[in-house]
Amino acid sequence: MTTAKLQCIACQQDFPLWELRYECGCGGLLEVAHSVKGKSELKDLVEQRLLSRKPWDRSGVWRFREAVVPLETSELVTHQEGQTGLYDIDTLQDWTGCPGLLLKHEGENPSGSFKDRGMTAAVSAAKKLGMNRLACASTGNTSSSLAAYAARAGAQALVFLPAGKVSLGKMAQTLGYGAQALAIRGDFDDAMRIVRELALAGEVYMVNSLNPFRIEGQKTIIWELLQDLEWNPPDWIVVPGGNLGNTSAFGKAIEEAYQWGWIKKKPRLAVIQASGANPFFTSFQAGFKNLVAMQAETIATAIRIGNPVNYQRAKQAIERTQGLVAAVDDASILAAKAAIDRAGVGCEPASAATLAGLKELIRSGVVCKTQRVVAILTGHMLKDTDAIFASQTLQSHEVDANATAIRSLLAALR
Ligand code: F0G
Repeated sequence: MTTAKLQCIACQQDFPLWELRYECGCGGLLEVAHSVKGKSELKDLVEQRLLSRKPWDRSGVWRFREAVVPLETSELVTHQEGQTGLYDIDTLQDWTGCPGLLLKHEGENPSGSFKDRGMTAAVSAAKKLGMNRLACASTGNTSSSLAAYAARAGAQALVFLPAGKVSLGKMAQTLGYGAQALAIRGDFDDAMRIVRELALAGEVYMVNSLNPFRIEGQKTIIWELLQDLEWNPPDWIVVPGGNLGNTSAFGKAIEEAYQWGWIKKKPRLAVIQASGANPFFTSFQAGFKNLVAMQAETIATAIRIGNPVNYQRAKQAIERTQGLVAAVDDASILAAKAAIDRAGVGCEPASAATLAGLKELIRSGVVCKTQRVVAILTGHMLKDTDAIFASQTLQSHEVDANATAIRSLLAALR
């Protein structure tokens, strides 16, 4: 039904799918180019698989396997990722001023973030390639995800983290799943530079989103939400941007779904950055002339990235979907997070950038109130508990262990 190869996004040179390679000789990034025969049959097959009980059909990634990475089901390293909920939450529709808002919560993935969708693909590919020493740079979610999937594959996970800048929850997961952690005296961009160097020298297999298989897995966030909307696309999809892997994956997923006739119109992408880590926003404002790397700083540690490696792909994604890039400050991110948490949904700070950005886009009239919008929440609330405890409005009281003391406390609180 499908064949696939690696292709340079800059000069279009082809390489075999299973050649170990991250970049083209011209310096361009690589992507998996699929040739799909029976495009509508594939869409029907994906519908039928919703009734299956097989783990690879229940996975929200491998349900689409022919158009993700063509592997045998026996070759997949899966935790049944994906299958995340699409929520219609009136309090958050009111808060953003967007009645047509739906939220897709990628924090419901096995390790608590969307990274699992890319990681199942990258680690399955690593196994196919016979690579046993897997590495990533990370602000904490990629490392947690790699640790979980490497454990499942019986491979070694080496994670490069900015020392002192990873939340406790992410650090605990990464170590608990058995990864070897290297705390770099530097930031995420330094860690990324080192992993890239080691990978190009053949010393480790890199599973950051420079790895084309990561992008393939993350495409399924879009396909799954389109399937849940019965292939009737929203007007906008809003997502936070850091290293821009998701932005790239979303652009590719939308383009393929459109080219293959799965959808009749393309949703527009709105990428939201933190204003202290906004090189993509600055470049967008200057007509995408170039990317100027910056020293990044934001409360949303997951997107504290000043030199996003997927810039080329992400720029294409914005151009092809007539998308936009916006930036929001940390105070707006925390206000959005508080609203999301109080709605009983919860997310980590980086995810909350989506609603902070959407609220601003609605206020300024860029997104119309009548439009249908899907906002992606990328990580679980428990990923960053410090950001919860920083809130001024938490209600917790220590009290003597008897009903009388409790009654008088409750009366005083009223
Ligand atoms: N949201 C969360 C919760 C993230 O962890 C990340 C990235 C992003 C958004 C940004 O996604 O990089 O595809 O633009 N986290 C990476 C990590 C960098 O190492 O966990 P992106």
